[in-house]
Amino acid sequence: MGKAASALDYRELARRRLPHFLFEYVDGGSYGEVTLRRNIADLEAVALRQRVLNNVSEIDLSTELFGQRIRLPVGLGPIGLAGLTARRGEVQAARAAEAAGVPFCLSTVSACPLAEVAAGVTKPFWFQLYMIRDRVFMRDLMQTARGLDCSALIFTVDMPVPGSRYRDQRSGLAGAPGVLGDMRRVWQALKRPSWAWDVGIHGRPHQLGNAVPVLGNDSGLNDYFAWMSSNFDPTVTWKDLDFIRSEWNGPLIIKGILDPEDAHDAARLGADGIIVSNHGGRQLDGVQSTAVALGPIAEAVGDQLTVMADGGVRSGLDVVRLLALGAKTVLLGRAWAYALGSDGQRGVAHLLQLIEAEMRVAMALTGTTRIADLDRSKLVSAEAGANNRAAALA
Ligand code: GLV
Repeated sequence: MGKAASALDYRELARRRLPHFLFEYVDGGSYGEVTLRRNIADLEAVALRQRVLNNVSEIDLSTELFGQRIRLPVGLGPIGLAGLTARRGEVQAARAAEAAGVPFCLSTVSACPLAEVAAGVTKPFWFQLYMIRDRVFMRDLMQTARGLDCSALIFTVDMPVPGSRYRDQRSGLAGAPGVLGDMRRVWQALKRPSWAWDVGIHGRPHQLGNAVPVLGNDSGLNDYFAWMSSNFDPTVTWKDLDFIRSEWNGPLIIKGILDPEDAHDAARLGADGIIVSNHGGRQLDGVQSTAVALGPIAEAVGDQLTVMADGGVRSGLDVVRLLALGAKTVLLGRAWAYALGSDGQRGVAHLLQLIEAEMRVAMALTGTTRIADLDRSKLVSAEAGANNRAAALA
């Protein structure tokens, strides 16, 4: 395959360019990957309503999000280690997002630290935070993010403990620490010379950039999982939102909501937004897909805070589906990591162009000209779909 014709092509291109352990990290989910598959399958099953003769010559994809106008109701969600898929990768992705007029969110466990990304762009970006045992570290991170004018904080709540990703153990990313683990990864990297040259040699340092103050300058991939499992705080409760609020007065978005009762709590406790998410099928395997979870949550709290969603989005059509199910903005996850890993900033820019073009056509063919009009009326209801199918096959 030469160039990507669709967003999904970037997955195959990334598989060919990235060392096995990195591709598996991005591509994989937890346990049997049931939820990972469900996210994609349930989204694909959402049937849009084809409507005709509506004058769709002018389509406006822009929308308002936390007081900012964004060109598309799409953002680049936080992805750990994404910066290792391309040279200083998070900077490249943030630049692509900025040029496309959509938000970029930097993960706590990124390769590039906050300051490096800030130096690479001209507009504010978002920062994602986990609940870490070390509250001083968290406070420092929030202060840094504030000092760099980050425009929103995503607080991820579905990871009080990390789910097991068996692919990472098989690939050697989370396997034997020390020299043995290093050698396995070096061997995999040598089989991908273009990545080895671009990132392996010229993309240093390979660190968790934001964790250097606690892990030191010599931290590497071997420290990643150890840090994840020993520093995430399983004692976290809703009360801890007070701590976040005392350090962060900008828009606060809670990521990892899958249940309407949790969504109610987030609204009651003053969150500005939530992201309906199962962490891309990387945490509790077997939970419902976001396509299924989103509708009831949007109905319950959509008038109280901004409801966003991620999970299984591989095309502009998928974005339109989640918007119609009740999301105000949709976050891309693996889709942008595949594009970044295939072709750096250019890949992410192209991915966003593809998503935009697909959205435009889907909007036109559903007879929709404004994002605000994308709602459940643009979908074939499950009941009507089932009845139609039963009648047709009878
Ligand atoms: C980090 O958030 C991961 O899912 O690996």
